[in-house]
Amino acid sequence: MSVKKIVVLGTGGTIAGTASSADDNVGYTAAQVGVAQLLAAIPALQGLPLHTEQVAQLDSKDMTFEVWRLLAARCAHWLAQDDVQGLVITHGTDTLEETAFFLQAVLAPAKPVVLACAMRPSTAIAPDGPQNLIDAVNVALCAPARGVVAVCAGVIHGAADVQKVHTYRLDAFGSGDAGPIGYVEEGAVRLLRAWPQGDVQAAGRALAAVARVTAMPPVEIVMSHAAATGAVVRALVALGVRGIVVAATGNGTVHTELREALRQARAAGVRVVRATRCANGRVLPAAADDLPHSAGLSPVKARIALALELMD
Ligand code: SIN
Repeated sequence: MSVKKIVVLGTGGTIAGTASSADDNVGYTAAQVGVAQLLAAIPALQGLPLHTEQVAQLDSKDMTFEVWRLLAARCAHWLAQDDVQGLVITHGTDTLEETAFFLQAVLAPAKPVVLACAMRPSTAIAPDGPQNLIDAVNVALCAPARGVVAVCAGVIHGAADVQKVHTYRLDAFGSGDAGPIGYVEEGAVRLLRAWPQGDVQAAGRALAAVARVTAMPPVEIVMSHAAATGAVVRALVALGVRGIVVAATGNGTVHTELREALRQARAAGVRVVRATRCANGRVLPAAADDLPHSAGLSPVKARIALALELMD
């Protein structure tokens, strides 16, 4: 049997960033180096059956629905090939958790789709990108691996739980209460819990919907905070928003004034979902709730879930 290949899709990020000085880890420009060039510079990856494709080249803070749409289509294309074992996607750290969640929702892949990133640019004295890429390829080569995961600093995070938790450290991601899926230790995967599983039929419908539309339904995030008002919500409703995710305080509580504006938005047909602005934990439902909760999704992921629902 011929050896199956890993397809590495490039989208940009710090992993592909360059700085004018090797000792500058923050004053760099993201998304400068092509994915083929990144891989060619890593001796440990030479001789492996890798195929590269540059899907986008951007700083992930500027991620767009168009790029997600193209990325999902290219992933679906490659995942359907019998000779492909899995995918690696190079990506910026800033919105990595959103892309991971989106891809899991529209692909629910039976093969591994591994997001790889870096906190230091490729020109740094000690860049973290090469080791993260080696680890990501090892996860993609791991036969039982499946679903969308992110690998950073030797830790494997699932798409549903992964969250950027640090602005600067190399180990910049966490998986909250769920904890990581596992670790990559000198090339070997040590699994702690199950790989992400998804609803394949729902994902198929979501992928078809994403291919059909040219824009995401407008869903915005507002935050509840001290002295909050309903002004932003009223403005969004006037602009024709279709969904609002509220990043609520604590266990899903919302400032009285904001809550009233959200009730009125709902009455006007806008979908409203409550997530928590807490970094850990989930909104636990209570009998008196009148605004639906996000079923454990963070505000940015709840926004994607709601937009996909509104596309259906
Ligand atoms: C980005 O998200 O594209 C830039 C920041 C990073 O990758 O760490």
